[in-house]
Amino acid sequence: MKIDWIDVGDVDDIPIMGARVVRSADGDIAVFRTADNSIFALYDRCPHKGGPLSEGIVHGRSVTCPLHNWVICLETGEVEGPDHGCAAQISVSIDGGRIRLGLPRASRAAHG
Ligand code: FES
Repeated sequence: MKIDWIDVGDVDDIPIMGARVVRSADGDIAVFRTADNSIFALYDRCPHKGGPLSEGIVHGRSVTCPLHNWVICLETGEVEGPDHGCAAQISVSIDGGRIRLGLPRASRAAHG
C-alpha cells in the first residue's frame, strides 16, 4: 500500500502525557505524547467498544480507555492484561520537532 507522510504539527502542540486528534478520511487519529517525549498514533477507537482513546489517560507507553479502562499499548496498539484486541496503529516520523503520520494514500489528514 502506498503511504503518504502528512505533517500534523509540532511535538509541542501536544501536552506531555496527553493527546490531540487529527482527522483523516479513515476516521479520527489520536496522536499521543508520552512523558519521555515519544509520539505514537492510533486510530481514535478503542478495540473494545470504540471509546475515544484520545481522551484516555497516558501512562508509560500505554493509554487507558476512558470508557471501561482497557489498557492499550501505544507501541503496538495491542490491549494489555486479561483483555484482548488491537487498535489500528499509524506510523509516526519526527523531523525537526514536526510530527508526520504515515497514512494510506487515499486518506487525507487535516488539523483537528
Ligand atoms: S470502549 Fe474502551 S474499554 Fe470499553
